[in-house]
Amino acid sequence: MVQTKRWNVQTNKMAIKEAATLLKGGKTVAFPTETVYGLGADATNETAVSGIFKAKGRPEDNPLIAHVATKQQLGNLVSSLSPTAEKLIDAFTPGPVTFVLPSNGTCAFNVTAGLSTIGVRIPDHPVANKLLKECGIPIAAPSANVSGKPSPTTADHVWADLNGKIAGLVDGGPTGVGVESTVIDCTQEIPIILRPGGLTKEQLERVVGKVIIDPALANTSEKPKAPGMKYRHYAPEVPLWLVDGSPEKMQEIINDERAQHSRVGVMASTSTSQKLTADRIIPLGVDLEEIAATLYDALREFKDGDIDLIICETFPETSIGEAVMNRLKKASSAYLKD
Ligand code: TXA
Ligand code: MG
Repeated sequence: MVQTKRWNVQTNKMAIKEAATLLKGGKTVAFPTETVYGLGADATNETAVSGIFKAKGRPEDNPLIAHVATKQQLGNLVSSLSPTAEKLIDAFTPGPVTFVLPSNGTCAFNVTAGLSTIGVRIPDHPVANKLLKECGIPIAAPSANVSGKPSPTTADHVWADLNGKIAGLVDGGPTGVGVESTVIDCTQEIPIILRPGGLTKEQLERVVGKVIIDPALANTSEKPKAPGMKYRHYAPEVPLWLVDGSPEKMQEIINDERAQHSRVGVMASTSTSQKLTADRIIPLGVDLEEIAATLYDALREFKDGDIDLIICETFPETSIGEAVMNRLKKASSAYLKD
């Protein structure tokens, strides 16, 4: 058990400086990005990085993303940049995207889990950016949750998971995008999306033409190229059933379960929510962007003891809906289709 220092960036002028001092001293500190909170450590320090794996209970074969403040710092971590990679980096950084590129070995072995490539990202969040500039070193940072749980979109989510296990937490308020960055492999001729996220396939294709989605994401028998995608993730405390059907169909399932004494929670768009009756209903929002931003908070809201089962609506797999559905499929224990 360690004492976790918590700063509020609104009220504490020393927050960034003190957090940077801890990071430079080899400690783990959580901080906000535009996607989700990250748990940072000096990416060039193997011992510091092992502190991340320990705090999260993360499998060691799952590589981390190196976060930097500038394109120049990004260039310092890779051995080469293809013209396509350069185009994407110019168009989308800072932003909710991680580029998988050939590593030049600057980062510690456990950041890349021994791979020859490294995931690099320049976040688009004023607190993350100031912190990274103040540190001046690459910061390895996975999402700041206990492995397997939904990623944190508020400082309270991080606190609930990691208080007593990390050196610090910079509270910069709720994140914006709400789902993690898009991970895109730029080591091949055609870029491959390894994890759908905040930057959409449509946006990427507008800049470089063809982009493919790792086929393993749709086909569960194939091994995904991003090691982290093979694990069960984002799990709520109680089972979640994804229901692909009308509100009437959803209500039928809810009624059946309630008749068997289950307390049923619902996650659905605001308009569908208004048509349903259940023990607890969390409206996720009016459009896919809002649904992405509230998704993880909703998954954490349903507590074992209050609710026995979550019924969740499905959403169109377009734009950021691709990332939302990817996460929901991983969070669910059943997918009911007509
Ligand atoms: O939005 C985000 O990306 C957040 C914030 C904190 O930046 N970070 C995040 O990190 O989501 P994490 O560790 O939870 O997810 C990183 C994903 C994993 O699926 C991992 O396997 C993949 O990126 N990844 C990292 N480096 C890779 C590499 N060299 N090759 C393939 N996949 C890689
Ligand atoms: Mg994660």
